[in-house]
Amino acid sequence: MAIVPGDGIGREVVAEAILLAEALRSAGHLAADWEELDWGAERFLTTGRAVPSGGFEYLRTFDAILGGAFGDPRVPDGEYMREILLGMRFELDLFVNLRPVRCLQERLNPLKHVAAKDIDLVIVRENTEGLYCGAGGVVHGRTPDEMALQEMVVTRRGVERIVRVAFELASDRPRGKVTLVDKANALRFAGELWQRVFAEVASAFPGVATDHLYADVAAMEMVRNPARFDVIVTENLFGDLLSDLAAMLGGGLGLAASGNINPGQVSMFEPVHGSAPDMAGTGTACPLAALSSFGLLLRHIHRADLAAAIDAAIAGAVQAGEVTPDLGGRCTTSEVGRAIRARTLERLAA
Ligand code: NAD
Ligand code: IPM
Ligand code: MN
Repeated sequence: MAIVPGDGIGREVVAEAILLAEALRSAGHLAADWEELDWGAERFLTTGRAVPSGGFEYLRTFDAILGGAFGDPRVPDGEYMREILLGMRFELDLFVNLRPVRCLQERLNPLKHVAAKDIDLVIVRENTEGLYCGAGGVVHGRTPDEMALQEMVVTRRGVERIVRVAFELASDRPRGKVTLVDKANALRFAGELWQRVFAEVASAFPGVATDHLYADVAAMEMVRNPARFDVIVTENLFGDLLSDLAAMLGGGLGLAASGNINPGQVSMFEPVHGSAPDMAGTGTACPLAALSSFGLLLRHIHRADLAAAIDAAIAGAVQAGEVTPDLGGRCTTSEVGRAIRARTLERLAA
């Protein structure tokens, strides 16, 4: 696998994932090798290039990629960050952004009217088009007449493949329901295409229940009644916004994992959170989102056994309060990492 730790706390949390991979390897559970790539702000500032030439083709030679986070206050326009992160998503056609959220403990549940066990949803975010496609430009830049255009591109092929993934996922989940989230009331061309394709794909999955919400109401419902959600399928930007909101239902960004997936192809797994410059260097970033993303990576490379052990270790550490301050604990990043290694190995030995 390739490992791209990136910047800020991305480096700190990925360091714990690497230690976990090493522990699994030395205990004989994992035969993998990995290579760390220095794509990030430091490289950009010293060489002027964020991604070496041929970088994305090189990534295709790995079976999976573990990412950290990208973003550095020294590079305020973030162009290098988009080149790396959106570059991986677009160049490798990682069209599924899978963002599961569960609330592991009542203590982490921010909603007093909902039980933790009822918070169990997956956001299936379209990851290669929509408002992120990069179409647009500036006219009369930096004059009183300046104009910026940022266009939303929606293709039939793009919608169909992501909606299909959502239905396939839901048909394997006990509740089996897909909610389409869009803004068809305001964005009618894109909305009509999403709705029509959703209905078509739905007809091939008679066992899966369907639902529809406008994105604004979906945000409200996520707080009012998150139990109504099982699988959510949505456009790139709506999925971005809703996934940070959903992360809070599970205890926060410290726990939120994600996969940027092209089914059957090289895919990239990373925490939902960013490089959190406010927290970098304090040793208090929660590594659980990165460790859980490593678990998603292991599932992708057909090691669901190891992923299940990591998930159980995370649940155990959360129950025991072996967590960082954001989750109400007193541990450091490396103490949490150590606890997860010990619990994972213990589980695999049992
Ligand atoms: P952020 O996700 O980095 O941080 C938001 C808040 O959440 C911060 O207050 C931080 O303290 C907290 N937080 C985040 N991760 C945490 C963790 N593991 N443990 C405990 N607390 C945690 O969002 P931001 O501050 O808006 O962005 C910082 C930079 O990261 C920006 O440059 C942004 O563009 C970038 N970013 C990158 C990615 C990515 O690489 N995938 C994702 C989101 C943001
Ligand atoms: C995420 C991030 C990225 C996104 C940013 C850093 C471009 O917020 O992965 O959720 O908007 O997709
Ligand atoms: Mn985001």
